[in-house]
Amino acid sequence: MTLRVMLIVIAVNSVVSNALFIPRSLPEDALLNFTGLSEKYGHKAEEYSVVTEDGYILTLFHIPGTRKPPVLLLHGIHDTADTFILRGKKSLAITLANNGYDVWAGNTRGNKYGRRHIKLNPDTDPAFWNYSFHEHGVHDLAAITDFILNATGEQSLQSIGHSEGTTDHFVLASQKPEYNNKFKLFIALAPVAFLSNLISPVSAVTELGPLLNQVLLSLKIEELISEKGIEKNILQLICNKEDIGYELCFKGVILQGAGYDPKGIEPKFFPTILGHYPAAGSRKSLLHYDQVALSKRFALFDYGPEENKKRYGFIVPPDYNLRQVIMKTALIVGKNDNLSRVRDVEYLRFLLPNIVEYHLMRQKRWNHLDFVWGNDLPETLFPQILSLLEKYR
Ligand SMILES: *[C@@H]1O[C@H](CO)[C@@H](O)[C@H](O)[C@H]1NC(C)=O
Ligand SMILES: *[C@@H]1O[C@H](CO)[C@@H](O)[C@H](O)[C@H]1NC(C)=O
Ligand SMILES: *[C@@H]1O[C@H](CO)[C@@H](O)[C@H](O)[C@H]1NC(C)=O
Ligand SMILES: *[C@@H]1O[C@H](CO)[C@@H](O)[C@H](O)[C@H]1NC(C)=O
Repeated sequence: MTLRVMLIVIAVNSVVSNALFIPRSLPEDALLNFTGLSEKYGHKAEEYSVVTEDGYILTLFHIPGTRKPPVLLLHGIHDTADTFILRGKKSLAITLANNGYDVWAGNTRGNKYGRRHIKLNPDTDPAFWNYSFHEHGVHDLAAITDFILNATGEQSLQSIGHSEGTTDHFVLASQKPEYNNKFKLFIALAPVAFLSNLISPVSAVTELGPLLNQVLLSLKIEELISEKGIEKNILQLICNKEDIGYELCFKGVILQGAGYDPKGIEPKFFPTILGHYPAAGSRKSLLHYDQVALSKRFALFDYGPEENKKRYGFIVPPDYNLRQVIMKTALIVGKNDNLSRVRDVEYLRFLLPNIVEYHLMRQKRWNHLDFVWGNDLPETLFPQILSLLEKYR
């Protein structure tokens, strides 16, 4: 949400002070999609379309493997399935495929692989953008899970979520508890349910959230960071600039939330990330998270007292009931993660009834994005993931 405001400031500055710069061209891996990257790193991938019960059409990627049960990967906010493969041979998707797993990488509504609907037009119907992590959980993750189980003939699968991808699981399992037994194991990387312990500058941004929301509303902006939009162009232009791109965009904006770790995510790799991230999402998604942060509650969307009363029967929205999340869950958290803060995850751990593993990454520098983009994933995180998948199959 502040991203747009910040970007405009950065853009104006940059244009004024630097009218003649030419951005570098992006590396090949920035431009290939999931299927292209998968093929480049040795595995032919398939693409499916999953239709949700409310009409969204989501691309689901599949790297076929012989090992059962299937493993689903689910990305975070303003991200896509690409996140799990953009590190190439050091990525989770390729590592799982190399180990024989049957890998499925999902996309939730709103990103470039989930920007279709049987009736609504994302460019002209604001209703298309009327969703948050709530709909990602109850509709998208539900449909993706059912699709995979049907396609494979399996009763249950294993799943790995990152950031919002974990929220989506907690929402689904608490709102539709019958889904719990469709997950043999859920591995939550940088889990997000509570955002009660955010620190500055992220906390300052959340304070501004309601105001920024009003601004976006009055400008009728529902889709943020659209592929075709002005902010994406500005991003590509500024952030891909050789000397200042990393400092300005990555260190100055993205890593303020994620935690700074130039060792795990080196400046040289940044242009590859830039081809895939950030992806589009909805205003309402960020607003819902903002409500979670400000209220210090993991609760359904707050529509205001009057509408809440009609919808929920109470003037405040009810909490997601985490006691209903009875699937086997592993929580993995980083000490330098400034979004998924250790104290918030510890509270989540306290509420979840079926934690099979709680793991604090040993490296002090481990941040929110090392879980998907870190250059040392094969040594640091993957042994843990592979042993969990093996243990709870
Ligand atoms: C991925 O890229 C390939 C090659 O450009 C293209 O054929 C395919 O349709 C793309 N898939 C998606 C889901 O965008
Ligand atoms: C948004 O979706 C909710 C249901 O999820 C619906 O009740 C509401 O009317 C929708 N609002 C708009 C503006 O489409
Ligand atoms: C379930 O899978 C079968 C083939 O395996 C397919 O024909 C059918 O359309 C699928 N159903 C759904 C709801 O995806
Ligand atoms: C993240 O949090 C740590 C303290 O946990 C702090 O030292 C650091 O400055 C914060 N910001 C970034 C960008 O790492």
